[in-house]
Amino acid sequence: MRYESLPSTNSEVARLAVEGAEEGLAIVADEQTAGRGRLRRSWSSPKGAGLYFSILLRPAIAVDRWPLITFVAALAAGDALLETSEVRTDIKWPNDLLANERKICGILAEAIETPAGRAVVVGIGINLTNNAFPQELLGVATSVAQESGRRPEREAILNALLAALVRWYSLLHEPEGAEKIVATWASRSSYASERLVQVTNGAEIVQGITRGVENDGALRLETAQGLQVIRAGDVTSVRPAIINI
Ligand code: BTN
Repeated sequence: MRYESLPSTNSEVARLAVEGAEEGLAIVADEQTAGRGRLRRSWSSPKGAGLYFSILLRPAIAVDRWPLITFVAALAAGDALLETSEVRTDIKWPNDLLANERKICGILAEAIETPAGRAVVVGIGINLTNNAFPQELLGVATSVAQESGRRPEREAILNALLAALVRWYSLLHEPEGAEKIVATWASRSSYASERLVQVTNGAEIVQGITRGVENDGALRLETAQGLQVIRAGDVTSVRPAIINI
């Protein structure tokens, strides 16, 4: 379903899910007036400057594997950008897509309760042009237009994204699928291992060296206090000179 304007495609998919919408319901909006990001942030969504997309999933997998749905979305968005726009991306845990170390795509997966059972709304925001950025994002964000040097083809990106989501999400339901997804995610992420990072989660800040991810997508971090398993937070790269472990 397509809309000119919505507060948030994630909120609209969640609303329809509670009314009984089926898995696969997908919504795209030209603009969002109250786009939401991870960790209660807002997601700047001016008209035509980004792809604002959400899809409803009703996964038939063990709940402890559900965090891998964000990995599935990151892999699919990475495929779509490479296939349609020749933009190569890196993944910053858990699911930010970076191009040349700047954010080009964000993913917000939200579990919701519906009368038909627990479901997940996966929202994907891809920066198509730099018009998407408020002042504070200049320098930390990039766009398909900037990275490809071409006019972004929103429909082609959307079609490729849908096809890639079907591929990766189907794999998640297969035996050994989760392991393959984690392995592919790790091979596409320069943050997965041997990277000095700082993880911020609310007031809690921890520094360490990444040591891969668990089967459910949690990040292993070697800190001065020992190995920690991180399930939520914001990762930033730290220069070796100021690491404190
Ligand atoms: C993040 O990196 O913080 C996640 C950003 C997710 C933005 C997308 S845009 C489409 C969907 N609708 C929303 O309100 N948010 C997601």
